[in-house]
Amino acid sequence: MLGRTHYAAEIDEKLEGEIVSVAGWVHRRRDHGGVIFIDLRDRTGLVQIVAEPVQDENFHKLDHVRPEFVLAVKGIVKRRPEGMENPDLPSGAIEIEPQIVEILSEAKTPPFMPEDAESVDEILRLKYRYIDLRRRGLLQNFILRDRVLMAVRRFFHDHGFLDVETPSLARSTPEGARDFLVPSRLQPGTFYALPQSPQIFKQLLMVAGIDRYYQIAKVFRDEDLRADRQPEFTQIDVEMSFMTQAHILNMMEAMLRFVFQEALNVSLDPFLRITWEEAMEGYGSDKPDLRAGEKLWNLTDTVKAHVSWPVLRDAPFVGAVVLRNYQPSRKQLDTWGEMAKALGAGGLIWLVKSPEQTRSSAGKWLSTEEVRKLSEKVGLRPGDVLLVVAGDKYPSLNVLGQLRLEFARRENRLDEGWRFLWVTDFPLFEFSEEENRLVSAHHPFTMPHPEDMDLIETAPLSVRSQAYDVVLNGTELASGSLRIFQPQLQSRIFSALGLQPDEVQEKFGFLIDAFQYGAPPHGGIAFGLDRMVMLMAGAKSLREVIAFPKTARGVDPLMNSPSPVHPSQLEEVGIRIKK
Ligand code: AMO
Repeated sequence: MLGRTHYAAEIDEKLEGEIVSVAGWVHRRRDHGGVIFIDLRDRTGLVQIVAEPVQDENFHKLDHVRPEFVLAVKGIVKRRPEGMENPDLPSGAIEIEPQIVEILSEAKTPPFMPEDAESVDEILRLKYRYIDLRRRGLLQNFILRDRVLMAVRRFFHDHGFLDVETPSLARSTPEGARDFLVPSRLQPGTFYALPQSPQIFKQLLMVAGIDRYYQIAKVFRDEDLRADRQPEFTQIDVEMSFMTQAHILNMMEAMLRFVFQEALNVSLDPFLRITWEEAMEGYGSDKPDLRAGEKLWNLTDTVKAHVSWPVLRDAPFVGAVVLRNYQPSRKQLDTWGEMAKALGAGGLIWLVKSPEQTRSSAGKWLSTEEVRKLSEKVGLRPGDVLLVVAGDKYPSLNVLGQLRLEFARRENRLDEGWRFLWVTDFPLFEFSEEENRLVSAHHPFTMPHPEDMDLIETAPLSVRSQAYDVVLNGTELASGSLRIFQPQLQSRIFSALGLQPDEVQEKFGFLIDAFQYGAPPHGGIAFGLDRMVMLMAGAKSLREVIAFPKTARGVDPLMNSPSPVHPSQLEEVGIRIKK
């Protein structure tokens, strides 16, 4: 085979007159008055091969090639005739006149052309993923992913972190999704669990004295899939000893700043830091999208002081979102009401301010003076709309937060840019309606807030934790916490969670045991690498940044997994399938 001397994008007018060899796929073949034009495609782009209709061997070969044939071409670099240049390509000013043409591989007509893939059904694209991946737009995502990973590794290496690998054949970890199980042949009737995260291993590495650990770790969760969830995904997993929360946040912010600089040439502003409570009150969400306009308003006190209508006055919480410069029709106003109800609000009150007056959906029950007080509180200007929700605090905030986001989306009001923030002080526990018991909001090793230690037994739902998230443009990118490293405190948390000592011993005994042998204070975080690259690439789904992703039903249409196995394989691991 001809040795390749250049990639397509490396050839430009500076090489005019030189002999080069290129190799790649036939992207397009055109025939103009007998002259054959081939766009040859490789990983870097396209280069044009032009063969005059002289009846030699090269011409016959090029006459014969079809899209997606694989060729190697040696030839002379020539300037394209004037007016024939393509300014969109690095090689757009030149073409190659072939001296030797090798057809390395023929190709059947593909089920779709790579450049048309975006209009093709996704299952078909995934079935022929190797053709889909020939598409420039998709390939770019993997080039970006590689740059991100290189920058991540460089940062951690330069800051004294050790990359330590942890097992994939493990046992259940506490992230709370369902496990993928792997039956053991040597111990029939027992199972490994694929790790939902390296959480326990990385904490054990801290007990071991590794001090600063990171890993680009493949992890597995059997949960319902969405655009931002895959059953297997990659975490940038980090753990550190002898660091305060502020140290960890600063270090991780520096890492993200470095990665964005290296991979996108973007310099990030310092991240906003707010508590979970502030996030909920300001944005009705624990992952606020800072691009979506101003914060929510708490009108509870104003209403108590100035409004006599019992529906508002007696509500435990009254909040509002202002839609600035918005002239909705009556019908549009009604759709906001319907949306609020669908989200669980009892109802929605609107105020619309024009230069002459302020109209309200609750005009019958609110006096002009009461409407004026509410408008004044939020600085309502002519052209603005106020949407008010009354009810229990967090459900109302959730509704308002979603209205805020939906307004920004519908009206195209999302600002440009990378709006990062830290959300800290998450609640330690949540009440699970499903299980009718207290569960950990993050995981059971999360350190409670030092000021709330006395509330663990008496008012667990008001205990804050030393847990934090990184949020980017409304997506949770990373989650982490300081960890409990004192066995007594850990026992208190387990009993608050209603775990019996034997259950604790069975599930986490090895970690509790390890903590008896000298555990350093430690904490860490894990970033969803795929989510990060998805946002950086401007992609809509994780499937665009994972080479061989699963469909929403957890299927890989290319390899046809999951698939039945041979009965003898089941026999070996002692499993019988129920009909
Ligand atoms: P957590 O469970 O929050 O924390 O996961 C960390 C980050 O992983 C990403 N992520 C996902 N990405 C793609 N598909 C999924 N199904 C998926 N699930 C989660 C998110 C998330 O922020 N061990 C702890 C971290 C720690 O405390 O150090 C953990 O795994 O971006």
